[in-house]
Amino acid sequence: MAKVKTTWYCQNCGAQYAKWQGQCTTCKKWDSLVEEVVQKEQTPSWQTGDVPGTLSRKRNSKPQRISEINAQESPRLDTTNLEFNRVLGGGLVPGSVTLLGGEPGIGKSTLLLQVCLNLPFKTLYVSGEESAQQIKMRADRVNKNAENCYILTETKTQNIFKQVSDIEPDVLIIDSIQTLQTQHIESTAGSVSQIRECTGELIKFAKQTATPVIVIGHITKDGHIAGPKILEHMVDTVLQFEGDRNHTYRILRALKNRFGSTHEIGIYEMLGHGLREVTNPSEILIANKDLEISGTAIAATMEGMRPLMIEVQALVSTAVYGTPQRSATGYNLKRLNMILAVLEKRAGFKLGQKDVFLNITGGINVDDPAIDLAVVAAILSSNFDIALNPKHCFSAEVGLGGEIRTASRMEQRINEAGKLGFERICIAPAKQNFKNSTAQVVAFSKIEDLVRYLF
Ligand code: TYD
Ligand code: MG
Repeated sequence: MAKVKTTWYCQNCGAQYAKWQGQCTTCKKWDSLVEEVVQKEQTPSWQTGDVPGTLSRKRNSKPQRISEINAQESPRLDTTNLEFNRVLGGGLVPGSVTLLGGEPGIGKSTLLLQVCLNLPFKTLYVSGEESAQQIKMRADRVNKNAENCYILTETKTQNIFKQVSDIEPDVLIIDSIQTLQTQHIESTAGSVSQIRECTGELIKFAKQTATPVIVIGHITKDGHIAGPKILEHMVDTVLQFEGDRNHTYRILRALKNRFGSTHEIGIYEMLGHGLREVTNPSEILIANKDLEISGTAIAATMEGMRPLMIEVQALVSTAVYGTPQRSATGYNLKRLNMILAVLEKRAGFKLGQKDVFLNITGGINVDDPAIDLAVVAAILSSNFDIALNPKHCFSAEVGLGGEIRTASRMEQRINEAGKLGFERICIAPAKQNFKNSTAQVVAFSKIEDLVRYLF
C-alpha cells in the first residue's frame, strides 16, 4: 500500500511544514501546527471545457495592450439589494469570488438567501449546514416565492460542480466554505488544506465561467475569518457582517474589494421576516431625540462614506469599591481611559475615584475618532447631572493636550445634522465656513472652552 502523505499546516497562516515544530516560523504563533493528510489526484474538480454552452468561456492567455482591453464587456449584476450593491461597489462583478464573514447567528445565511431570492437570475444556493426544508422555512419567512432560486444540500465539491454544469446558474452561493470537501485531499472539512483547495477550485470555476461566487466563512473567537489568512488573499472581495446579536442592527462592511472602495457600509435591521435595508440610519439610531436626560450626547460620525448620527450615553457615579470601574460598549476602552486622563489633567475634573460606564446605543461599534467630543460631553453631563440640549450635537477628535481636532468630511457631517433637525453642532476650529448648513456651527479649540460653554 502506498504510504499516506501528510503535511503539517499552521492553522493560523496556512504555512506548510514537513515536520512538527512548536512555533510556526512564518507567523510566529505557538502550537498551531496540525497534521493533515494530503493525497492529490491528478485531475482537478473543475476543468476548462467541462461545461457546455455559455459557461465554458476560456481565458485569453495572450498578452494584450491595456488600451485594447474592453472593460465594458461584463457589466455588474444588480442584486436589487441597494445596501449590498453599495458595499460591493455597484453590484456583483462577473467571475468574482466574494467571501462573507461574520459571527455565528449574525445573519449571513439570511442575507445571502434573501439576495438569492430577489435576484432576477438563476441562482444556486449550496448549503452544507442546513437541510433543504430548513432553508425553505427560512425562505418562507423572508416571504418570497422565487422561481429562479435552486437549493442544493451538498458538501463535496465534485458533486457541486456536477450540479452546477447541469443547472448553469448565473450566481453561485456557498454556505459555508468550512463545510466543503474535495476528494483530492483526505483531511477533514474545515481544515486549512481543505479550505485552501476548495477555494482554489471555486476561484477557478468563477474565473473560467464568469460566474460570480459568494462564499460564507465563519469567524473565529478573536474575530478573524476561520481558516488561513491566504483565504482572504485568494478571493476578490471580503465582506464582514457585524453587529451585536442582542440588537437588531447589522453592518455590512467591505474589508477588501478589488472592484470598489472599502469605505462603503450597508446597514440592515434584523426583523421577524428577514433583513430590512436601512436607508436612513441616523433617524432610528437616535430614538429619544427630544428627551432631556443627563449623560446623553449625540455625535455626528462617519461610517465609511456615510454620515451617521449616534447617541452616546455615559454614567458617572462614585465608586462603591476601592478600584473604580470603567466599561465601554461600542467604544474603545483604552480611548475612554485616555479621555478620562485628559479631562483630569487638562480640565481639572477629578474622575479618578468615579465609576464611568459608556455605551453607544444601537449596538454599533464606532471607530471614528470624531465621536470623542460627544463622549466628553456625555461624561461631563452625567458628572454634573445636567442634561444637554437635545438639539445640539458634537463632532471632533480630542487630543492628548486637551485640544479639539477637526475630523474628516466635516461638511457632510454638518449637513446631516442640519437635515435631521439639529440646531447646533460643536466642532473644532476649521478653515472652511459652513454657510449652507441649517445647523449653527460652533467651534472650540480646547476642552475647557467647551465645558465653559455647556455648563
Ligand atoms: P442566520 O442567517 O442563520 O445566521 P448565520 O448564518 O450568520 O449563522 O441567522 C440566524 C439569526 O437570525 C437567528 O438567531 C434568528 C434571526 N432571524 C430573524 O430574526 N428573522 C428572520 O427572519 C430570520 C430568517 C432569522
Ligand atoms: Mg448560517
